[in-house]
Amino acid sequence: MTYTEAKAKLNACEQSHLLRWYESLNDTEQYQLLEQIAALDTSLLNVFADYQKNGEATRGRIEPLGALTLDEIAENKEKFTAAGLDAIRQGKVGAVLLAGGMGTRLGFDKPKGMYNIGLSKPLYIFECLIHNLMQVVDQAGSFVPLFIMTSEKNDEDTREFFEEMKYFGYNPEYIHFFVQEMAPAVAPDGKILLEEKGRIATSPNGNGGWFSSLAKAGLVNLLQKEGISWLNVFAVDNVLQKIADPCFIGATLLSGCDSGSKVVSKAAPEERVGVLCLEDGKPSIVEYYEMTPEMIHDHEPDGRLSYNYGVILNYLFQTEKLIALLNNHLPVHVVHKKVSYLDENGILIKPEEPNAYKFESLVLDMIHLQDSCLSYEVQRNQEFAPVKNAEGVDSVFSARDLLRLNGIIL
Ligand code: UTP
Repeated sequence: MTYTEAKAKLNACEQSHLLRWYESLNDTEQYQLLEQIAALDTSLLNVFADYQKNGEATRGRIEPLGALTLDEIAENKEKFTAAGLDAIRQGKVGAVLLAGGMGTRLGFDKPKGMYNIGLSKPLYIFECLIHNLMQVVDQAGSFVPLFIMTSEKNDEDTREFFEEMKYFGYNPEYIHFFVQEMAPAVAPDGKILLEEKGRIATSPNGNGGWFSSLAKAGLVNLLQKEGISWLNVFAVDNVLQKIADPCFIGATLLSGCDSGSKVVSKAAPEERVGVLCLEDGKPSIVEYYEMTPEMIHDHEPDGRLSYNYGVILNYLFQTEKLIALLNNHLPVHVVHKKVSYLDENGILIKPEEPNAYKFESLVLDMIHLQDSCLSYEVQRNQEFAPVKNAEGVDSVFSARDLLRLNGIIL
């Protein structure tokens, strides 16, 4: 893009301040800034204006969705596991690790998966995950292709780390990295921020873009060529995460549903967790802050909470269905975060409090694009140990306790 074209694009959306320091940049910096402006999705500015006027989009009719309970799963364990192992052995199942996040709450400046949660010996978060996946590989006797999503900010570190750690014993031929897209950050007045004189402040655009980023990286062709028809998507930060769990895969396949989600019974009605339910008859996830007090406390005749099953970011999707949905836009969420930026004097400001807005699409919104979703209950103290914060709830400390409880030596 030329300078004139960039200026015209920015003038049209009242963002010409992004070229304020253009003349002071060297050739490479000028080129890179023009490239960033060319790639800038200005429709996000309309999303922001709409958000400021109307807030988040309103919801449809919400109803409870039960779950295949722990007891029901235990009764059918052998049947489900056999079906899942069969699918894995036939090479039909791939796993997708979402590791593009910034992990700002943890406050660790490397990719979250590089965090060492061990005490007497190193035990990295990535290592916990690969170790869990290896158990399935050993059980099935075949490798599960693993796709790892990074972002521009952490791609190099992540790849180097895996190489240095020799992929924690996983066969690297089955590991494929891909990079997610970025989105700009805006100030409350709707102006896009600069993080350097020649660089727009951007951050990863949420975990919802994983399949389109996979497609952009050319990996959907690989899925089709290899016949990988199911993808198990999971978060980097749950160190007890069971990946490509044969029982979950088998149960979803045999249920005839076009997706599956692992869920846990809520620890308390007010727990801050997204709940799997139905919205206008389709599977959907409502966030805790979207629930009315009635919904939070409603009970079913058997005494369970009506909105009882919290999601833990472990989903199973059908590849063909995702390909068919590729052009469907997911909702873009506007989130208030801390973003470092240059003020009008070119001074870098590092805010202590949220000061700007980022744009994110979320994998949980993909569930609502499915016709059906198997809600599959798991034991929370065996499968859910999130590392979100440095201390307190969902922290390094709580995750260590849960790892110990499951016999992992730290
Ligand atoms: P979180 O919602 O916890 O976000 O991500 P985060 O960026 O890791 O952490 P905070 O909010 O800044 O503290 C849930 C999962 O989605 C991935 C994360 O890596 C994690 O596995 N994710 C999140 C992405 O892959 N890309 C994103 O843009 C955001």
